[in-house]
Order: sequence, then structure tokens, then C-alpha cells
Amino acid sequence: MSENIDYDAIDIYAPAPTTEPERQYYFIAKCRNIVQKKIIETGTPMKMAIQTFGCQMNAHDSEKIEGMLTGMGYTISPDHDEKSADIIVYNTCCVRENAENKVYGNLGFLKHFKQEKPDMKVILCGCMMQQDIVLSKIRKAYRHVDIVFGTFNLYKLPELLYTNFESNSRIYDIWEEQKEIVEDLPSVRQYPFKASVNIMFGCNNFCSYCIVPYVRGRERSRTPSDIIEEVKSVVATGALEVTLLGQNVNSYGNDLDESITFAKLLRMINEVEGLERIRFMTSHPKDLSMDLIEAMRDCDKVCNHLHLPFQSGSTDILTKMNRKYSKEKYLELIQNIQKEIPNIHITTDIIVGFPSETEEDFEDTLDVVKAVRFSGAFSFLYSKRTGTPAAVMEEQIPPEVTKDRFGRLMQTLNPILYDLHHAHIGHTYTVLAESFNEKDHMLTGRLTDNSIVHFVGDECCIGTIMNVNIIDCKTFYLTGEIV
Ligand code: SAH
Ligand code: SF4
Ligand code: F3S
Repeated sequence: MSENIDYDAIDIYAPAPTTEPERQYYFIAKCRNIVQKKIIETGTPMKMAIQTFGCQMNAHDSEKIEGMLTGMGYTISPDHDEKSADIIVYNTCCVRENAENKVYGNLGFLKHFKQEKPDMKVILCGCMMQQDIVLSKIRKAYRHVDIVFGTFNLYKLPELLYTNFESNSRIYDIWEEQKEIVEDLPSVRQYPFKASVNIMFGCNNFCSYCIVPYVRGRERSRTPSDIIEEVKSVVATGALEVTLLGQNVNSYGNDLDESITFAKLLRMINEVEGLERIRFMTSHPKDLSMDLIEAMRDCDKVCNHLHLPFQSGSTDILTKMNRKYSKEKYLELIQNIQKEIPNIHITTDIIVGFPSETEEDFEDTLDVVKAVRFSGAFSFLYSKRTGTPAAVMEEQIPPEVTKDRFGRLMQTLNPILYDLHHAHIGHTYTVLAESFNEKDHMLTGRLTDNSIVHFVGDECCIGTIMNVNIIDCKTFYLTGEIV
């Protein structure tokens, strides 16, 4: 696997290989040569700062970016401090307007750093870069950006950076679609004890509010053997938990020649020895099959949690959102799941203020929240995304109405979260300890149902699964003690 590549053994004076990922390994080695010379010249390490916006997909892409830059000899700038960094990467998101505004704001700041330190490289990538309006704005107003690439050619970073080192000219390389899935990119995992594994890329659903299909392309599944090999390799290096990533994991395999479904894939991954926990996201309600529910029920490693976005409780709004299910269908699905897996915790995504949402529509959303009793929810104010069908719909909702509804949604959700957390008190659960706070000597971990728990413990427990008795709770977390 990629972790074992010896870049120093690559002949950087030979012609570049034409196959991937070997070609990029070669450019990593060539950049490594340049970086090492700079380190010797300046007597200081070459530092990188990577800022990730958006979802787990992007976070996982950033692990690959870090893997490639680490191979070149860059080290992480303490706390990803940008002022002292030699290379700055923004891995961007455009799912809502505020995600984009943050990037523009930060880029403005960087202008001054770059004036003081002209050798510093500024790289932009990720979903925002797949939009023409964004590109022309960056070309015009942010001339201090050195390299721009998109979501389909992330693997080419080494080649692009090498070209920039050689020419010192600005490089824009954006593709309209994915040409191939490049396997075996080097990657630096954020946590040794848990890992994200892509099972598919892209989305075919075109929910009318959503920009993702336009910036991530159509669905492309990785082969089961590539996925299993990666799961085994992360387990071999200490991972106890994997999260399988895709925009709609339930349609996994539809585009492959071999006959495979997500349910089958789960059963296969459940067999991987040494693996303790399997999570996945995201599931689209329209494709959640009985087969999958049974696989979740049968596979002991699959966590007791399902993230199932419903977006709106109003069938009318769901139709306008192009979600392809009704309020009743969603509730029926939840009943089926709860029947097979009685204690399962369900979390969701909700959009408030979609165009033409009436008070009655919104009350349907509150209705679903009360009926399902979600143990967590990401709630969003609708954000108009240029290029999506919803952006040109009439009756956009005034911000003050949306905000008021959002507040009422919180008032409905939060007491339910509290009640569900409260029901844990007095019980003992297995917890994967994920982080440690030096100030109060508290560990933070997760139950398999995804609840967060804080408990007194030792830093050396990070990355282990332990039994924790729950003694108290707040709306968003539990407190406990090691048994
Ligand atoms: N593929 C996943 C998640 C995609 S984006 C899914 O379908 O569930 C994550 C969430 O962002 C979505 O579930 C939705 O709730 C929210 N979202 C997407 N576009 C949005 C927009 N234009 N305004 C507000 N929220 C949006
Ligand atoms: Fe966006 Fe819908 Fe695809 Fe999710 S399923 S990424 S919300 S278009
Ligand atoms: Fe994720 Fe944002 Fe892209 S949510 S897929 S990083 S637009």
C-alpha cells in the first residue's frame, strides 16, 4: 500500500511514468528534491497548513492532500498556523453560501502574508472550484493564488505543484468530470484508531436545492475488493472503526458490472478481522432497502446508529425538493427500521425555509421530528445556490420567517435530544475514546449510537474501547465514569 512508498528510491531524472498513481509518486519525489534543497538552504523545516471546509468527504480528501505533501517533505505547521506556513491549502465547500464566504474572507487575509513572503504557495481545491463563477472571481480578485484544482483531479496535486515550482506561473486545472478513480494515494489519517473509507464518489439525485451533483459529478463506485483491501489495511495499522463514505451509500454498486449492493458490502466488511465498528454516511431514504435494514440488524460491527436526512416533513415541499418520498413513506421507513433494530438512534438533516414553505409545511417538519424522536440533527437555513433549480423558484422565504422557524425547530428538537440522552443514565456502554482534554483530564468518546460522552480518564486510553457507566447528561452530551 501507499504508506510504504520509498520516494527516495524513485529515479527523478527518468521520464515520467504514464500510469497512475506511479506518475504522481514520481512527481512527489521530484518535489521532495526541491523541498529538501529549500530546507537545507534556509535551515528551517518547510511547513504546510491545510484548512478543510465542508463534509467528511472533504475531510478525507484533505488526509490525501496531507499524505502527498508529507511525502514531499512538508511538515504540519503548529495548529495549521498560516503565517508561518510555506504552503497553504484551502479545501473548499459550496453547499451553503456561508461556507463560500469564509473562504473569500480568509483569502483576503492571505494576500498580506503572501506580500511578506512571496515564496509561499497558496492552493485552492475542492467543491467551490468546480463552479465557473468562482473561478473567474479568483482569477480577477485573488491573484495571489498559485494553484487551483477541482474535485476530480485531486490526485494530480504533485504534478501541478512541480509544474508551478518550475514555471512559477499560476496553474488552473479543473475537469468537468472524473476520468478514472485513482487508487492508492498516500494519506495521513487524522486518527490512527478510526478511518474514513470512500466507497463511492458523486451523486445522481439532483435534489433541487443542492449543488453537490454539479461539483462532484455522477455516481462512481469503487470495487468491493479495493474497498475491502483498504479496510484491512487501516485495521492493520490500528483502526477499530471505519466510516464508509458516499453521498448516497444506498445506491452503492449500481454503476458496477459485478452484482453488489451496499447491504452485501456491509456483510463483507463485517467479516474483516480486528475491525470493531462500522459506520456509514449518508443514506437517502428513497433507496434504503429492507435488505440493508436486515444487514444492519445482522452485522454485529455495524453501529447502532443511522443518519437518515429527511430535509422536510411536508410532502409538497419534498416533491419540490425532488426527494422522491413523502412524509408518510419516511415515517413508514423509520417504523420498519425501529421494528428490526429496536434501540437504534436516528439522526437527520433538516432544511428550513425552502422556497414556498408555508407555516403548515413547517409544522409537518416539526411533526416528523416529534414522531421519530431524532437523537441528533443538522439543521440548516435554506441557502440559495446559483445553478440549482430551487434558486429560480418563486416565493423565496424572507430571512426573518426562516429564522423564526429555525428557532422553533430547535425548541422542538432539543428537549427530545435531552430525553434520549437522559435515558442512558445508569447504563453501561462500550465507548471508543477519541480525545483527551489536558485541562480537566477528561476523555471524550462515542457510544455506538453516536452519543458523545465525557469521562475522567488517562490520555493513554485514546483509541481504545472501554466500558463507561453514564452518570449524567446535558442536551448534547453525556458524562460517565469508567467501569
Ligand atoms: N448527500 C447527503 C448530504 C449532502 S449535503 C444527503 O443527501 O443527505 C449535507 C446537507 O446539507 C444536506 O443533507 C442538506 O440538509 C444540506 N444542504 C444541501 N444543500 C443545501 C442548501 N442549498 N441550503 C441549505 N442546506 C443545504
Ligand atoms: Fe445533494 Fe441530494 Fe445528492 Fe445529497 S442526495 S448530495 S442532498 S443532491
Ligand atoms: Fe461536501 Fe461541501 Fe462538497 S458538503 S461534497 S464539501 S459542497
